Amino acid sequence: MNVIRLSRSSVGEEEKVALASVIDAGYLGMGKEVQQFEEELRAFIGTENDVICVNTGTAALHLALECLGIGPGDEVLVPSITYVASFQAVSATGAKPVACDVTLDRVFLDLTDAERRITSKTKAIMPVHYASDSTEMDLVYLFAGRFGLRVIEDAAHGFGCYRNGKVIGDQGDVICFSFDGIKNITAGEGGAVVTGDKALVQRIRDARLLGVEQDTEKRYSGQRSWFFDVRHQGYRYHMSNLMAAIGRVQLTKIGQFALHRQHCVARYQQELSGVPGIRFLDLCYENLIPHIFPVRVSATHRDALMNHLRASHIECGLHYQPNHQLDYFATDYALPNAELLGDELLSLPLHAELSESEQDRVVTGIRNYFDSAGNVRTV
Ligand SMILES: Cc1ncc(COP(=O)(O)O)c(C=O)c1O
Repeated sequence: MNVIRLSRSSVGEEEKVALASVIDAGYLGMGKEVQQFEEELRAFIGTENDVICVNTGTAALHLALECLGIGPGDEVLVPSITYVASFQAVSATGAKPVACDVTLDRVFLDLTDAERRITSKTKAIMPVHYASDSTEMDLVYLFAGRFGLRVIEDAAHGFGCYRNGKVIGDQGDVICFSFDGIKNITAGEGGAVVTGDKALVQRIRDARLLGVEQDTEKRYSGQRSWFFDVRHQGYRYHMSNLMAAIGRVQLTKIGQFALHRQHCVARYQQELSGVPGIRFLDLCYENLIPHIFPVRVSATHRDALMNHLRASHIECGLHYQPNHQLDYFATDYALPNAELLGDELLSLPLHAELSESEQDRVVTGIRNYFDSAGNVRTV
């Protein structure tokens, strides 16, 4: 029996051809291919903002924060339920990630709790597009306006989604995407920062290439800097032509990926809606390209169901353990919703190559679990 994967890359012949042409051209580093990917991303988003490609979503977040001048002594509000990358990106700057609670219905940053965590050191807020949703982002911008905060949107799950009728990235302060292997599109690994803040754009462009000033512009015209100045900390965070070649092909496939992911979610909702023991998040999937499909299962059953499915060769995921319960980011306060969700969330297989028969196996596995044990939901 084949293993049903939780997630996987959907890449094939077109990506191989694109990679071969970069290899044949003989320059694998950052050059024209990256420039073209950035232009195509801008066109796709339909934005006047700049797009700066880097080698991971984590690097995008780290550079965005650091180039905004956030560092030691500063605090950044972050929802506790997120990938640890969000927290590590903040702490990499020397600033403190301040864990906030999340809402139960959408697992989005809870602004009532965030307000409790504001201090004179708070410089920014980093909401996460959990499971691709950012419906409540307008409220985040109102909140940020009230407290004079910068907003760095962790849109690692959100590439290609819509908010207020616009593609994510066109509106907002600083938006960061991930193109890692399992995201809505992949560049092998990769990420991007999108912002209309021109000063920030140049800082990030330089900082992704070790702080060498204006090196991006040289590399895009097939040269590099031999005489240069460096005035800020920089990193080797640039995207390579190889990565961009994969990303460019993937961008042409995003429509088909979107349809497939939405279709899978609609089927899960239809097939599981009567199953006692499974509760859906309150997300409006028509505007999303769902990166993950987390459901809530009561804490008494979540791990047992996960083990039951694993025994049937079905992988599930946990998105995520609360970060404030990790040793490095531990808090001296509780976050009740995040803790409850940390015990209840279970992500079902979802990717652009998931077949209907595989989905049927997942649904049957879940039904069997609840039938056989008489395991009716108790929360
Ligand atoms: C919410 C969130 N933020 C940040 C990241 C980091 O992206 P990357 O893996 O490209 O570094 C991820 C990646 O999984 C993520 O899920």
